[in-house]
Amino acid sequence: MGLEDTATLGTPPRRPGPKDMRAVLGHFCTGIAVITGQDGQRPLGFTCQSVTSVSLDPPYVSFCPSLGSSTWPLIRAGGRMCINILADTQEAVCAQFARSAEDKFAGIEWSPAANGTPQLHGTLATIEADLEFEHGAGDHTIAVVHVTALEAHGGQPLLFYRGDYGGFADRRLDPVTG
Ligand SMILES: Cc1cc2nc3c(=O)[nH]c(=O)nc-3n(C[C@H](O)[C@H](O)[C@H](O)COP(=O)(O)O)c2cc1C
Repeated sequence: MGLEDTATLGTPPRRPGPKDMRAVLGHFCTGIAVITGQDGQRPLGFTCQSVTSVSLDPPYVSFCPSLGSSTWPLIRAGGRMCINILADTQEAVCAQFARSAEDKFAGIEWSPAANGTPQLHGTLATIEADLEFEHGAGDHTIAVVHVTALEAHGGQPLLFYRGDYGGFADRRLDPVTG
């Protein structure tokens, strides 16, 4: 039974909890990025779906790191990062950077971007940025970053929808001839 159903039966509306938030917000399909940085000794990164374009001029992008992330405070301390937008071939990369571990870069092909942060290979796009400001927001924060360089590489996106992964089907294409 959904939240609206309980309201129509006359019972007081229930405050949405984390399960409701996951179940309903999961209908908002997103791409997936790995946000990388470095602490001077080793590369750092975590998987992040909350990336959003915010401002064109000045060029701002936002994302929402969890207060539970062990990697984000280290990237924040460096002040600069690379937002690596994943391609549909990179589900394993997504999974590898979504766990707290020392060896997240094992088997990952990457090279330093112009700002020195790890640029993952095989991605759809690369966005280099500096942290501009960060606001508290419940169990996450909202980080707003200033884009310093960006490039699209082409390919198809890895999508996240209702807790699962998928690809993009262009419905403008003829379903038979493609
Ligand atoms: C598809 C997907 C999307 C995610 N999006 C976010 C996000 O927007 N913000 C966030 O803080 N964590 C997000 N996570 C969880 C982090 O990737 C994970 O908690 C983090 O990498 C744990 O490692 P860490 O402790 O090294 O930060 C997401 C995970 C997955 C699988």
